[in-house]
Amino acid sequence: MDILTTVHDLRDRLRPHRQEGRSIGLVPTMGYLHEGHLSLMRRGRSENDVLVATIFVNPTQFGPNEDLDKYPRDPEGDAEKCRSAGVDILFVPEPGEVYGPQFQTYVTVERVSAPLCGASRPGHFRGVATVVLKLFNMVQPTDAYFGGKDYQQVQVIKTMARDLNLDVRIVECDTIREDDGLAMSSRNAYLSPDRRRQAVCLYEALMEAKGFFKNGANNAEHYLAAMRTRVNAEPDTEVDYISIVHPDTLEDLAEVGDKALAILAVRIGSTRLIDNMLLHE
Ligand code: PAJ
Repeated sequence: MDILTTVHDLRDRLRPHRQEGRSIGLVPTMGYLHEGHLSLMRRGRSENDVLVATIFVNPTQFGPNEDLDKYPRDPEGDAEKCRSAGVDILFVPEPGEVYGPQFQTYVTVERVSAPLCGASRPGHFRGVATVVLKLFNMVQPTDAYFGGKDYQQVQVIKTMARDLNLDVRIVECDTIREDDGLAMSSRNAYLSPDRRRQAVCLYEALMEAKGFFKNGANNAEHYLAAMRTRVNAEPDTEVDYISIVHPDTLEDLAEVGDKALAILAVRIGSTRLIDNMLLHE
């Protein structure tokens, strides 16, 4: 596995593969890798000739009072995990390599970025779309892999790819969970043992919604009330949002029909966690 830090070296290394017509898979990450990230890499490995992973804690997607400075990092451990997942090229640029001093161009995906995390983290999806488009331009992948844990992020990236005619297949992968159901996340590292136990309330709230759906309930307010009750049963939790939305538009549903997504963001102590579940699957 090659570890590269400059766009110049990355392009040099990929050029011959592209000229030979080989497929290139890309897995963008912010590091502190866990099984969720590795599942994307394994899928990317099995579907492509060349596999590129990136680790870049992207400053433009963090708000001024967010955790950019304390975001967990483990460069050596991450490199080892990438190597064992079959990554060929690991790209780990410094912020200055990605954003030059004159940087001033951003991508805004409008409607689908607006609600949910977009409402509570202004500018977040602008930063995500911008860095993902930059990584696409640096790597020129045939396939790019994203986790369903970040459902809205996948919708933003799919919308950008469609609207800007990007020649890349966006592959959405399943959410990988801990044994008790908590979605794996680099931010789970912030949780103390007590908070970690409480954090299962996100998954359990989603499972309650799934139970309502199986029973044919159609008033979204009933789902939301049950989910809020489950989350609020834990001390020191604060709901950022809990919603039942249409899976394509992310617009709130009043009546739950044949397709629905339950999605939530909750602060457990000071750690903000997100999760979601397609109720019809
Ligand atoms: P990060 O949070 O490191 O996640 C990298 C990728 O791993 C994303 O596609 C995310 O959805 C996926 N992932 C995270 N946890 C997962 C889980 N439990 N199961 C399955 N997939 C999971 O998301 C980002 O970084 C950034 O926003 C990025 C896309 C790299 C742009 O900076």
